[in-house]
Amino acid sequence: MERLSGQSATDLDRAAELLRKGRLVAVPTETVYGLAADARQDAAVRHVFTVKGRPLLDPLIVHLPSSPLPAKEVEWPEAARLLADTLWPGPLTLVLRRGDSCSWSPLVSAGLPTVAIRVPEHPVLQELLHRGPLPLAAPSANPFGYLSPTTAEHVEEQLGEQIDAILDGGPCAHGVESTILSLVHPERPTVLRPGPVSRETLAHVLGLEVEQVTRGPGRGAADPQLAPGQLPSHYSPHTPLRLFPEGAGASLDPEPDTARVFLQRPSGGSPGDLDFWWSEDGDPVTVARSLFALLRRLDRDPRVSLILAEQPASLEGLEGALRDRLSRAAHARHS
Ligand code: TXA
Ligand code: MG
Repeated sequence: MERLSGQSATDLDRAAELLRKGRLVAVPTETVYGLAADARQDAAVRHVFTVKGRPLLDPLIVHLPSSPLPAKEVEWPEAARLLADTLWPGPLTLVLRRGDSCSWSPLVSAGLPTVAIRVPEHPVLQELLHRGPLPLAAPSANPFGYLSPTTAEHVEEQLGEQIDAILDGGPCAHGVESTILSLVHPERPTVLRPGPVSRETLAHVLGLEVEQVTRGPGRGAADPQLAPGQLPSHYSPHTPLRLFPEGAGASLDPEPDTARVFLQRPSGGSPGDLDFWWSEDGDPVTVARSLFALLRRLDRDPRVSLILAEQPASLEGLEGALRDRLSRAAHARHS
């Protein structure tokens, strides 16, 4: 596995060369690290599924340097143009109908007549995408079901042996995955996965109401055709994780092997050895940035056999995305 620097032109050339040859390169994005392959090469895309241990029925996001795209690749409704002009590059993925002669591997669509695309804003990935090959199919660079990686070290720990290179672009700015919006029915835009771009922002840009698919623990599974891969259990540490409602931390009486994770530094009294917090002041942007990294750290901590984590109360905006990721992490295979 080659460790490449996003600051080096030679290393960026090398990453582009590997991708052109059908090899796999982990790349930084502003949300989480992705495991990239040339979206036009079937064998390379298939290899991504194998390395992640991901079912072939769960489609991939295609990353592009800019929009709009030729109509042969995707159908491009007016709503997509509006969102692309306003919010790209950025942490927003659009699900659109595949064009009639789309040049991307059918595996990226997992048999659906649609494809998910996004134009990321991370400067290192932008450099790489502009060098070619275009476009890059990239899921988050973690084994299927585990916490997403937000640093190059996270990727190396888990996938280092199985991939050709990691392009280091530093820690990810957002720390949670992009918002996914389906425009398959452009008059009825639907959020399939909450993320850094809020439903309110999308509705404002579109001048339309934006729905959110109801899914996740206790709410029944989403229509698998509409939202494949949105499993209730996802993003999970191996250590059991339970949630407590925002503000209820003080009333917990944890066992000695239980870590408590708060949204912000707890006030009053001195924190215990196994008390942690995602931010000083509860700012959701800071919480998101360290969400997965802290859970990973606790997952490896030999003192910890249970994690109790505080879940934001709000369903909207970035806090809604944090709620979503934490619910999935707690709804794990082992619980
Ligand atoms: O921020 C992100 O979106 C990161 C970075 C690397 O770009 N990528 C990411 O990819 O989170 P992944 O594969 O971990 O999650 C993509 C989600 C999956 O749940 C998949 O089911 C959904 O997008 N998806 C992909 N194509 C789709 C399609 N055609 N229709 C509906 N959902 C789709
Ligand atoms: Mg993922």
